[in-house]
Amino acid sequence: MPGHEGTVSPLARMASPSPGLPWMGTSWKMTKRLSEAIEYAEALAGRAPSFASLTNSFVLPPFPFIDAVARRLVPAGLAVGAQNVHWSAQGAFTGEVSAPMLVDVGATMVAIGHAERRAMFGETDHTVAARTAGALAGGLRALVCVGEPAAERATGTHCEFVVRQLKIAVSQLPAELLPGLLVAYEPVWAIGEGSTAAAPAEANEMHGELRAALADRYGEAGRRVPVLYGGSVTVDGARDVIEQPEIDGLFVGRAAWTVDGFAAIAVIVAECG
Ligand code: PGA
Repeated sequence: MPGHEGTVSPLARMASPSPGLPWMGTSWKMTKRLSEAIEYAEALAGRAPSFASLTNSFVLPPFPFIDAVARRLVPAGLAVGAQNVHWSAQGAFTGEVSAPMLVDVGATMVAIGHAERRAMFGETDHTVAARTAGALAGGLRALVCVGEPAAERATGTHCEFVVRQLKIAVSQLPAELLPGLLVAYEPVWAIGEGSTAAAPAEANEMHGELRAALADRYGEAGRRVPVLYGGSVTVDGARDVIEQPEIDGLFVGRAAWTVDGFAAIAVIVAECG
């Protein structure tokens, strides 16, 4: 029954990630119109044979385009997801979208707690925790975004700040849902126009801290949670980042908004995986 809570569409089932492969994905944020979304998805599907089987690659379009993009990218071996999700499965929550609804249109994952949502839309560590639990319970893989503002790095408190964000994000998460968790370390000061990426070694250090925090709480299974880096990743800089031992993937904005950019970075990730 279309739209029935708990339905897993055949498209969604096709996008199961392969354990151990490196991750490469983009969020389009609030860019592209429908025609551009379709053009991108068709072109990227054509390029997928050069990276899709060697990576867990994904695209997170705006909500209205998820269905059209999933129909084109999921059969090519990429996952498609959303940029936000509500914590409830349904209800009187005007303007919100739930995990089962996203599953219905072919999404298999969702980004939660992106720095832009935290800075502009009132997202807090506690709403991130609720969304994370809701996403996973609703059948989506949750990509939880954490990262410190510049002031925290300046005072040397960045590790405790980011580890605290992650600890709260997983505070409602039972161990059996852990296999659906992904983390993205995205320092606020490294994201977007006019920023520069974290030095690969700096990012690597933080990834180690995040992994240790997950291992503390969940044991070996916590250590296996993929931790992606995001923030001004470029085609030229991608290799140095993905080669870091604690970095399991890249979460890319601007540099992957063209098909050439996405494919170029995905091939680098595939080579280094
Ligand atoms: P950027 O965005 O690559 O354009 O800096 C990264 C992000 O927001 O995830």
